[in-house]
Formats: sequence, structure tokens, C-alpha cells
Amino acid sequence: MSLVLSIESSCDDSSIALSEIEGGRLLLHRKISQESEHAAYGGVVPELASRLHAAALPRLLESVLPYLEDISAVAVTNEPGLSVTLNEGVMMARTFAMLRRVPLVPVHHLKGHIYSLFIEKETIMPMLVLLVSGGHTMVLAVRALDDMEILASSMDDSVGESYDKTAKMMGLGYPGGPILEKLAAEGDGERFPLPVPLKNSPLLAFSLSGLKNAVRLTIEELGGADAMSHRDRCDLAASFQRAVISHLVQKCRKIFAANKMENFALVGGVSANMAIREAFGGLCRDYGKKMHTAQLQYCSDNAAMIGRYAIDALSAGLIAANYDISVNANRKLSPGMRL
Ligand code: KG4
Ligand code: ZN
Repeated sequence: MSLVLSIESSCDDSSIALSEIEGGRLLLHRKISQESEHAAYGGVVPELASRLHAAALPRLLESVLPYLEDISAVAVTNEPGLSVTLNEGVMMARTFAMLRRVPLVPVHHLKGHIYSLFIEKETIMPMLVLLVSGGHTMVLAVRALDDMEILASSMDDSVGESYDKTAKMMGLGYPGGPILEKLAAEGDGERFPLPVPLKNSPLLAFSLSGLKNAVRLTIEELGGADAMSHRDRCDLAASFQRAVISHLVQKCRKIFAANKMENFALVGGVSANMAIREAFGGLCRDYGKKMHTAQLQYCSDNAAMIGRYAIDALSAGLIAANYDISVNANRKLSPGMRL
């Protein structure tokens, strides 16, 4: 048996996995999430996250010891993310790979999200992908492992961030996405006339910060977060989500009209959202595209997707020379660039 050990620590989840290099079977997958520790702050505190990774990763690594002799490669997320947390995973991966004298594969976190689609499955390319996570919002033309072109991206906040900030303004917990999705399911999305971002603009880009401000003003008009009733919260969550979905669908409709790729996928933490999935299911039907999503447990950050990418990277020979890998916390990513 030949296995790749994968490690993910780019934000607030410590995760490791073992995947078979031949055949792609996922043998082991463990994750320790820090959500409850960061909840009190309404967002991720980098120094706290780094300390929690330093405690969690060695504990997780113990579970792979029975397979030590079978591990013939190590993969680790080295960009993008929080530099202090990326470093925790990279140091561990590098040390492990050097000591065991096995190849080390650097993995771009966003490519990992795209590969979450292929866990224990075949790789499907070319594919148009809408990546919606806590850190990024972009549409990519994914043609090959090393050819993922950014077609459009957010000019300010990401979709996940806008869910988190909206929930924080409403005095709700972290992460805001699942909380708001649940409230929205009970709410009236027509009650608050929130603006659909860039509605009349020809720009092929996303923008969420204006919507965030409109939410802030609405909360103020309601007398502040503490004065809001359960109904107000549900209706505001539904109105917010309706505006987000209209924005995403409107911009993607233009991209769909101009792009002939048959396959479309939604990936990233926000792709767990059922209302967003449904809206894109409809758009794909309109354009005759086949829609793909990852299993729910692999939408948020995890090491299984990092391992799945590594399997293809290893067969393409994409390994770090001399165990030398750099951490790139936030290299600029703009339309026209390739991941
Ligand atoms: O991909 P991810 O786990 O981490 C990053 O790489 O950023 O995404 C986390 C983001 C958070 O902003 C969280 O609020 C959002 O995904 N999220 C959701 C849902 N579940 C998670 N947003 C909307 N609806 C959801 N059901
Ligand atoms: Zn992520």
C-alpha cells in the first residue's frame, strides 16, 4: 500500500488524511475544528488559531502512526491562508517528509477545494467552478491541474465573509453561514429591500461590501441587534441571502452564456448552502450544464481534498525540490491569473 499523508491548517481547522495514491481511496480523515474557540470573537483570531493548531496537529498525527511504513508522500497546504497557521502545517509536513525521506507536495488551498469534488472519484476537467469560501469568491475555468484561470473575483469581501459579518452584526455566532441559512429558511426574503450588488453594472466581478452596509443600516433602523425580534432576524437573513444569490446567479449567468464548458461546480465552505445549490441547479438546467458539488463534509476546510489534489500532483511530478516550500499567505489573485 502506498499512501499520501495530507495536512491542512490554513485557517481554523486542523486536519490530516491518508489517501491511497493508486485508486484514491480515503483511508483516514480526521479534523479538529476551532469554531467554538473563535466564536466569542465573532471571527478567527490568528494567534489563537496558531496555538490551537500547534496543540491539535501532533495529536492528529498520532493516528497515522500505524500506517507509518506505507506513507510514501506528504502533502500540505502552503497558500493562501493565515501565515501563522499555514506555518504550523508546513513545518510539520516538512519535518515528517525529510525524516522519512519521502516527497513533499505543496498544495494551493483553493485547488484543494476544487479537488474536494473528486474525493474517491475520477478527476473531471475541463470544468467551470464557482468557488465560494470564507476567504475567496471567484469563478475559474479549470482546464488542468496547473491551468486554473480566474475569470471573475470579488473586489472586496468574499461571500463567506459577508455571511460571517452579517451574523456578527446581528449578534449571532460564528461561523455565520450555517446560522443565517437556517434563519433564512423561516424568513420572508421580500421584507427588506436590500440592493443586489452590481445589478446594473456590466462588470464581471463580485462585490459584497455594499450589501453588508445595507444590512448594517437595516439593523440600525430596527433599533439595533438587541432590539430585533426572531421574525426580524429570519426576515433579514432571508433578504440578505436572496440578494447574495441574485448577485451570484446574475454574474454567473453572463459567464455561462459565454462559456461552453459542460461541467459546472460549486465548491468551498459556502457551497454547503442548500438555497445557493438550488439556485445554481436551476441555472445549470437553463444552460444545459451538469452541476457538481462536493459531499457536505468536504465543503469546508479538510485534509482529504488536499490529499486528493496531491494524488494528481504526484503523477504530474509536482513535488518540492529539496523540501523547500514557501508559505504564501495572501498572494494577490485577480482575474486573468492562473492558480
Ligand atoms: O471553505 P471554508 O471552510 O474556509 C475557507 O477556506 O475560507 O469556508 C468557510 C466559510 C465561512 O465564512 C462560513 O460562514 C461559510 O463558509 N459557510 C456557509 C455555510 N456553511 C459554511 N455560508 C453559507 N451557508 C452555509 N451553509
Ligand atoms: Zn477553505
